[in-house]
Order: sequence, then structure tokens, then C-alpha cells
Amino acid sequence: MEILRSISDCRAWRRNDRRAEPVGFVPTMGSLHAGHMALVRAAQARCRRSVVSIFVNPAQFDDPKDLAQYPIAAETDRLALEQAGVDALFVPSAEEIYPDRYRFRVSESEDSRVLCGAHRPGHFDGVLTVVMKLFHIIEPDQAFFGEKDFQQLQLIGDMVKAFHLPLTVVAVPTVREPDGLAMSSRNQRLGPEARSAAPLIHQLLKSDLGCREVRRALEGAGFEVDYVEQRWGRRLAAARIDGVRLIDNVAL
Ligand code: PAF
Repeated sequence: MEILRSISDCRAWRRNDRRAEPVGFVPTMGSLHAGHMALVRAAQARCRRSVVSIFVNPAQFDDPKDLAQYPIAAETDRLALEQAGVDALFVPSAEEIYPDRYRFRVSESEDSRVLCGAHRPGHFDGVLTVVMKLFHIIEPDQAFFGEKDFQQLQLIGDMVKAFHLPLTVVAVPTVREPDGLAMSSRNQRLGPEARSAAPLIHQLLKSDLGCREVRRALEGAGFEVDYVEQRWGRRLAAARIDGVRLIDNVAL
């Protein structure tokens, strides 16, 4: 696996392909789990060359404490990707990605302001900006995103259409723990009690209860609920337990 540290490394890696084989790209913030590895496998199944990026994007954190606590596992991640047979890993610095110190950004004015966007001001501008930059640097043919972050997936798909970007966005189903909890890098911050309560989000989203009843049941179990809503043919929720914000969604 080639380690690409700079934009010029990426461009050289991209040019170094005489057969112009399709490139599948998996953007991540590291601390990889089975959900990320499912994205990697989907990229490898559909594209001859695969590239993963690991970049903890400061622009998408509305809460500096959340950024400071974001888990980092650089060496374990590198080994997992190497073992999975990934062709290249892009690990840029913040200076490389934001030479403009985030003066220029991609901003969306409707769907980024609801659900998670209503509770995390500026979050999706940060996501869309970094993903747009990564698309320009990597120039992938296909890019892979998990359905767990359904609002993010929708916004990135819409951005690709809006800016006529020449790539396909591929949605990959959420990977879950045996008890139904959606895989997330944040799960490792859950204490034992919160960890055993956490699968309730998925259980309630799947149930016949209405959104208001789901909210009430979560609050009764000690969650601080940001939203439980239906949109895009899904039922989505975000709730905090033990100071850890969890999101999930299911198809209706
Ligand atoms: O889903 C994530 O991990 C991040 O939002 C992404 C897409 C890598 C952008 O930083």
C-alpha cells in the first residue's frame, strides 16, 4: 500500500496508472471499524484501484471538545487497510487541505440546516468542503459512503449533481453490532451502562411506534434526544447518552 502524504503524492499516484483503471475512494476520519471495512470491500468489488483517506477534518466539528476527544488509531488503521489490500492511503495534514484556513467553503442552504445540521451549526459545510477538496485531489471514479450518515450521504450525492462532478456516489448499508447498534468510532467512548442502552435507538426506530413515542421512550431511558424524524423514506434519530452523540436511521 502506498502512503500518500501530500496532494502532489496523490497526483503522481493517479498519473502512475497507464491503464487508467477505475479508482474507488473511501474518505474516512480514521479509527476504522467494520463499517469502514465494508466501504473498502465495496470499493474493491467495483473498482480496480482503491484509495482511502484518513483526515480528522477540524472544519466539521462544531464542538472543540468533540474534536479533541475524537479517537485516533493511525498505526492500527494503516495495518487494517494494508491487510485488506487497499492500494493507497492518503493522510494529509490540515495545512495541506486548508491552505486558505477555510476562507473558502461549500455551503448548502436547505437540507444541511435540518436534523443534524440544526443541532451542529456549520457541520455540513465542513463535510461538504472537505469532501469537495478530496474529490478534486483524488479524482475518483466512484466514492463510497455509509448509510449510517444518511443526511451526509444525501448532501454529498446532491453536491456531486449540483457541481457536475464526474464521479458516482455509492451508498453502502450500515454495519451493526450483533445487538443492532450501528458501528461508529464514537461507540468506544460509551461506558458499560450507556453501551448496553445504546441499541435501543435502533430497536425503537424499527418499531411500530410513532416518532413522538420513540422520542419519549428514548428520553425515558436516559437519552437526550436531538431529533426523531422521517425524511427521504427513512426514519432518522440522533440522541446523546453518557455525553456521546449517536445517530442511526432505518428504511421505512
Ligand atoms: O463520514 C465521515 O467520516 C466524514 O464526515 C467524512 C466523509 C470522511 C468527511 O470528513
